[in-house]
Amino acid sequence: MSEGIRPLMTTSDKPEFDLVLLGATGFTGRLVAEYLLSRHGAGGDLRWALAGRSEDKLKAVRDELGPGGEALPLLTADSHDRASLDALCARTAAICSTVGPYALHGSELVAACAASGTDYCDLTGEVPWMRRMLDAHQDQARASGARLVHCCGFDSIPSDLGVAFLQRAAMDKLGQPLTRIRMGVERMRGTMSGGTAASMINIIEETRKDSSVARIAKNPYALCPENAREGVRQPYVKGPEFDEALDSWLSPFVMAAINTRIVHRSHALQGHPWGSDFHYDEAMMTGRGFAGRRRAWGWSLALGGFALGASLKPTRSLMASRFLPKPGEGPSAEQREKGFYRLLFDGNTADGQRLRARVTGDRDPGYGSTAKMLGEAAYTLATDLPRDAVPGGFWTPSTALGERLETRLTKHAGLTFKLVN
Ligand SMILES: NC(=O)c1ccc[n+]([C@@H]2O[C@H](COP(=O)([O-])OP(=O)(O)OC[C@H]3O[C@@H](n4cnc5c(N)ncnc54)[C@H](OP(=O)(O)O)[C@@H]3O)[C@@H](O)[C@H]2O)c1
Repeated sequence: MSEGIRPLMTTSDKPEFDLVLLGATGFTGRLVAEYLLSRHGAGGDLRWALAGRSEDKLKAVRDELGPGGEALPLLTADSHDRASLDALCARTAAICSTVGPYALHGSELVAACAASGTDYCDLTGEVPWMRRMLDAHQDQARASGARLVHCCGFDSIPSDLGVAFLQRAAMDKLGQPLTRIRMGVERMRGTMSGGTAASMINIIEETRKDSSVARIAKNPYALCPENAREGVRQPYVKGPEFDEALDSWLSPFVMAAINTRIVHRSHALQGHPWGSDFHYDEAMMTGRGFAGRRRAWGWSLALGGFALGASLKPTRSLMASRFLPKPGEGPSAEQREKGFYRLLFDGNTADGQRLRARVTGDRDPGYGSTAKMLGEAAYTLATDLPRDAVPGGFWTPSTALGERLETRLTKHAGLTFKLVN
């Protein structure tokens, strides 16, 4: 794999910054900035800067960050101005972007990073867009040495690292991989931001307009390398159903269509160590009995209603103007503080042995916890990822950042990864 790896930098050609946070003026970007400042200060072990398209807005964000923040450098770049993105890449080893919807505002930055050898991570959950980026820039990223890691938030770090954790434990305790894993969301409290609402609506619009995009969105192997985009039929919870293994009623989980694609990409990038018949799916667990069944129906209908409303132009406009948060808006500090999530991973080996793990997070999944996950992922990418271990190309959180990230998440970011009975 030595071909195409960017040579190690000497001290003299070390860029000015380890990390630039682009999108620092957005709802999630501000939270990531707050987190990075609380962990690393300004001008400390991490040489980092805030970036965005408006200097005035950046100054206002820096002022709001409070003590220590005043020392943070501010850089301006517009995600549709390639020259400004190239200039940004020239000054930093890594860029963390919270500029979304990524399909609308993220492509030129990925191109600039792939061309310049700048490492990159983001919060996208937009599968068709990730596939376009992968197909367009994988060869160039390999040649330049840029490591690109999408999905470094609630989608898909807990799922991707949770599966990796359970598979490691299976090899350790059972001497064989798990060929079937179900992830059930046991409990979760959180809500969405304007940027996430806009990204979800944009995916629904794209898949309605173009059948080839819809085919990509439906393929569980859509993000796998080109020679691995087919495989065994994958399970998929479409509506309310009872699951014996999880002993619970289930309803569809909105992030499953993203997380399952990342887990399958991680599997493929490692050469399919869990077997060619590895099955993985995700669902919301709503409990047992009549109450569990009623909740499963309720969730399923609500999700179906959202998808239907977002797919029809008049209701989509109404939802966007009346019911959904606007760009820059999101859950309050109190809502983020009170939020949490608890995910159960239930696995079986080919000969029927069972192993379970639980992954938990201590803030609302989409923002409080996501900001910490992205901050730790960006720090790991920028400062602690040897190029001989992870060469240039598109990776997933578990295959690029793996146990280094898991350790930081448990130590600093309120996540736990534990085996359970
Ligand atoms: N995976 C996850 O778990 C997860 C969690 C949270 C969010 N997200 C995703 O993260 C993204 C951001 O969400 P959000 O709620 O933070 O959105 P937001 O508040 O609307 O923020 C968007 C940011 O993008 C910037 N931006 C827009 N156009 C730009 C351009 N041409 N050049 C430079 N910057 C530009 C905005 O700058 P201005 O301030 O100048 O407008 C703002 O900083 C969304 O795609 C969302 O889906 C994912």
